[in-house]
Amino acid sequence: MENINLVSLPHFVSVENLHVDEVEALIKRAEYFKRGGATPRLTKPVYVTNMFFEDSSRTHTSFEMAERKLGLTVIPFDPAHSSVNKGETLYDTSLIMNALGVNLEVIRHSQNEYYNDLINLKEHQHLNIGVINAGDGSGQHPSQCMLDMMTIHEHFGHFKGLKVAIVGDITNSRVAKSDMELLTRLGAEVYFSGPSYWYSKEFDKYGKYEELDKLVSNMDVMMLLRVQHERHAGDPNEKKFDAKAYHEKYGINHKRYNELKPDTIIMHPGPINHDVELSGDLVESDKCMFVRQMQNGVFMRMAMIEAVLRGRKLGGLD
Ligand code: NCD
Repeated sequence: MENINLVSLPHFVSVENLHVDEVEALIKRAEYFKRGGATPRLTKPVYVTNMFFEDSSRTHTSFEMAERKLGLTVIPFDPAHSSVNKGETLYDTSLIMNALGVNLEVIRHSQNEYYNDLINLKEHQHLNIGVINAGDGSGQHPSQCMLDMMTIHEHFGHFKGLKVAIVGDITNSRVAKSDMELLTRLGAEVYFSGPSYWYSKEFDKYGKYEELDKLVSNMDVMMLLRVQHERHAGDPNEKKFDAKAYHEKYGINHKRYNELKPDTIIMHPGPINHDVELSGDLVESDKCMFVRQMQNGVFMRMAMIEAVLRGRKLGGLD
């Protein structure tokens, strides 16, 4: 058994309350799983359900892969055919899951901070289920953030002083929110770029907004974001959106790719829109970590789920 601090958490809904030591311990644990390290032996069954009320390919499958690798029993849940469509609240749905014997819920939902109702219980509420946030509206995306940190750490071995540019629809991106906050606390220098109308002054406390071409040749990490069209209802800039113009101004094309430093990496949480954020033929280029991020995601999610198993003493772990 390697000497790794094991993290214990009752829920995993945000990176904001995570201590830097816990972040480092989770990265180490995920790296250990990636090397083929043994998973903890569960002496009691653990039931988990994945409730994705917003679309997902990689996060949903990645969580399910992580759950199965850890030996959890996955109970299917299909929001399209659930009683949520009859007006049932997320709290009541969770109460049902809990009553049926489900121990953990992995939830993706369009409402920011949907999880508050499930973890800050009021008088006479007895819900006893662990919540792992797989993305809340434009709020947080802790598992994407943690797998991003793992990927950066794997490449550079540290965070201190790394220059990281977050580029794109920052206002509407939950990946950006989680990553800017944690990167700053880990000692990285954060920069922002992309359309100024999808940038907000409130991000100034994490980093500096710059023209993309001023950043390209100086950054260690170029983190590209998908334009969040589904969150643009009523936004006048949505009507004006032009994919070709966006690529020209804010995308990584061959010219910009060739200006990157030799060791610079490109990251993207996916899904990528080819020839918008990134030239389609650069998706599998040497610098692009897109596939690596997805591979790491399974191991990081194993570490995150394990932390909640320990925090709730599930499966006989403590
Ligand atoms: C991200 C998300 O859902 O926030 N995708 C993901 O989980 N990898 C980013 C996005 O959809 O643009």
